[in-house]
Amino acid sequence: MAKLCLVFFIISLVIAMPWTQAFPLDNWPQRHKDQKETVTNLQFYFHDTVSGKNPSAIKVAQSADTEKSPTLFGAIMMADDPLTQGPDPNSKLVGRAQGLYGSAGQSEVCLIMAMNFAFIDGIYNGSSISLLGKNSAMSPVREMPIVGGTGLFRLARGYAIAKTLWFDITTGDAIVGYNVTVVH
Ligand SMILES: *[C@@H]1O[C@H](CO)[C@@H](O)[C@H](O)[C@H]1NC(C)=O
Ligand SMILES: *[C@@H]1O[C@H](CO)[C@@H](O)[C@H](O)[C@H]1NC(C)=O
Repeated sequence: MAKLCLVFFIISLVIAMPWTQAFPLDNWPQRHKDQKETVTNLQFYFHDTVSGKNPSAIKVAQSADTEKSPTLFGAIMMADDPLTQGPDPNSKLVGRAQGLYGSAGQSEVCLIMAMNFAFIDGIYNGSSISLLGKNSAMSPVREMPIVGGTGLFRLARGYAIAKTLWFDITTGDAIVGYNVTVVH
């Protein structure tokens, strides 16, 4: 019996090992002060294609009443949209906007955006920022919060100014200019 207990004890130790080794166990909270911050301004173009054979944004859910709503209230889209350096869709790809946007307004056209903007260009390759907020898509200019980031943009906070450059009212395809300012 004692032997069996010892065996179980050793097995449990082995199973627990990856967790005990993930981080040092001593001084689990540590305070660091005086870290300098950087301000970065990013300007790029967001291409949202909902029509055609290869849409970059697809509807993944809606309510039973969404089709009756003039604002398509309740529709949720999943997007993997290219971000380019210039407004031309064929200009240099600098990243991708991946995530969800949904119709959140009953009497106005507005979207709730929850998207990750992942960059691939230069030193920003592999870094990302997270956008979360309301997008009044029919307004010529709107502001949305940047709530976080990864890589070079760790701890990012800031704002995105979005301006629609081109919008096809029949298909819903759009090209939107983004001017993002982040502190990180
Ligand atoms: C970005 O990084 C990935 C992985 O490190 C690499 O494969 C890719 O070629 C890089 N892309 C650019 C555009 O530098
Ligand atoms: C982009 O945003 C920054 C910060 O708000 C501003 O200084 C700059 O003029 C903007 N650029 C354009 C082209 O609007």
